Amino acid sequence: MLNDKMIESLNTQINKEMYSAYLYMAMSAYSTYIGLKGFANWFMVQYQEEMVHAMKIYDYINGQGGQVKLMVIEQPLTEFESPLDMFEKTLVHEKFITKSINELVDLAIAEKDHATNIFLQWYVTEQIEEEGNDNEIIAKLKLVGGEGNGLLMLDKELAMRVFTPPAAKEVQA
Ligand code: FEO
Repeated sequence: MLNDKMIESLNTQINKEMYSAYLYMAMSAYSTYIGLKGFANWFMVQYQEEMVHAMKIYDYINGQGGQVKLMVIEQPLTEFESPLDMFEKTLVHEKFITKSINELVDLAIAEKDHATNIFLQWYVTEQIEEEGNDNEIIAKLKLVGGEGNGLLMLDKELAMRVFTPPAAKEVQA
């Protein structure tokens, strides 16, 4: 059973995940615009992952008999200086999401809501992976100086990313 405070905070997290999806969709669009199809693919896969993050909370609230309340999604950034700029902004945003997840866990513990605490552990693990991916790509972008053949090779690498639905992902692990 979810209390009102927990429901409100989880609804706010749905909004943050939806904003994340929207932000990465904007980055995908920008990548296509500047001719980097691999980057565009990577961000579109990330968009799909964020939709899963939002929908898992949506289903959890519904399943617990709470009321899902959707909120306005803020307009994302639409202009970026470079691929590195996009990934640095991605990392900053993911750190913000990690902090938000940690605060939700703190709340679940304070409210003695063990079910939600267990539910949120999936997000704690997911955030480690998200920040790790961003750090890795930022390091590679810095290595190639963010331009030339190195950038095109990285674009090819990012073109290989495939969206894996969560159930299939858990079976693989
Ligand atoms: Fe849903 Fe990228 O955190």
